[in-house]
Amino acid sequence: FIDEVRADEVLDSRGNPTVRATVVLSDGTVANAIVPSGASTGKREALELRDQDERYMGKGVRKAVENVNVQIADEITGMSPFNQAEIDSTMKALDGTENYSNLGANAVLGVSMAVARAAASSLGMPLYRYLGGSNARVVPTPMFNIINGGSHADNSVDFQEYMIMPLGFACFEEALRAAAEVYQHLKKALHGKGHSTALGDEGGFAPNLANNEEPIGVILEAIKAAGYTPGVEIAIALDVASSELVCEGGYRLASENRTLSSKELVEYYASMCEKYPIVSIEDGLSEDDWEGWQYLTQRLGEKVQLVGDDLFVTNATILREGIEKKIANSILIKPNQIGSVSETMETVRLAQRNNYTCVMSHRSGESEDAFIADFAVALNTGQIKTGATARGERNAKYNRLLEIDKELGGGEYLGGELF
Ligand code: PGA
Ligand code: ZN
Repeated sequence: FIDEVRADEVLDSRGNPTVRATVVLSDGTVANAIVPSGASTGKREALELRDQDERYMGKGVRKAVENVNVQIADEITGMSPFNQAEIDSTMKALDGTENYSNLGANAVLGVSMAVARAAASSLGMPLYRYLGGSNARVVPTPMFNIINGGSHADNSVDFQEYMIMPLGFACFEEALRAAAEVYQHLKKALHGKGHSTALGDEGGFAPNLANNEEPIGVILEAIKAAGYTPGVEIAIALDVASSELVCEGGYRLASENRTLSSKELVEYYASMCEKYPIVSIEDGLSEDDWEGWQYLTQRLGEKVQLVGDDLFVTNATILREGIEKKIANSILIKPNQIGSVSETMETVRLAQRNNYTCVMSHRSGESEDAFIADFAVALNTGQIKTGATARGERNAKYNRLLEIDKELGGGEYLGGELF
């Protein structure tokens, strides 16, 4: 049974406080988990409780820590760690709101993850096996975010993420190697053009480029310089995070000094998809532009993976609405958007039943915790995005996937079969 539950305030990769929860079982097992934090958050995400006082410019999480130490600990101490659904629904009931605005999703998710980890460890099982059972066998194809823009960097680029997807590889290890090589060639190419090679929040470079297409050009150059064929071995994926671009009259592309209507932006994507090997576009339109999303899905949904992040916020209820309205064909999965391990699993299952693809995802504020690597394998999401092949908090996930891949004796790698 669960003998002790506690939490501490620790730092995330941006230097802001976050929650680390610890669970101790009666058999002596100790496990902990660190909660991530987003910057370009969706409006309907579960609440991240911040102290809003003088410490850490208002970002302290002492209240969330206290909620773990007192309320949550009181409620779940003595319960079995092996019934994740019961633990999670107990915390949900204790909170009493839809979006965890009492306890904070950062308090609840930390405990939820730590309980899963403690249970797995107590049984001597790897986390992916404990959560996924014997079905867990697919090592996800990564989207590596190698150029950062938008609210993840101080540069001129409007789109938030330019990612590469290694599709033409037989295994995870080779895919990771290819991405890491392209990353180094990209650094060289940017340097050669006199651009900054400073990094953004997710480990990608953050150069000041002239418009939103130029990053794709440099990336294609780097792919070729590394000896790979764009579109065959390595494709491009974008996260526009367009909710951040909304302005009077449409979407503001500041670097190009123009404002596009929803329809014009879709046509811009269509023209980019003609020119470049783009296989996936995330948050192409804003979380409030559902009409636009319907058009986007009709226009490009047959050819391109259209991922809803801010749009669906990992929420099964919102996803269900999206499925009914034929919006998007894929969902980004961020456990802290919804607040618990069980609710995350429910959303993934709903998506998979309806043939929506799932992309397990980090946040821009991360930690050394690699829970999502195991979680992606457990749920056979087939895809993961967790940053560039640089910055320790990003590589913690890739390095854990290497370990899992080895344990599985070479996991199934889908790559190009995804599309
Ligand atoms: P966030 O960004 O963690 O800052 O929300 C990640 C994303 O938009 O996918
Ligand atoms: Zn996103």
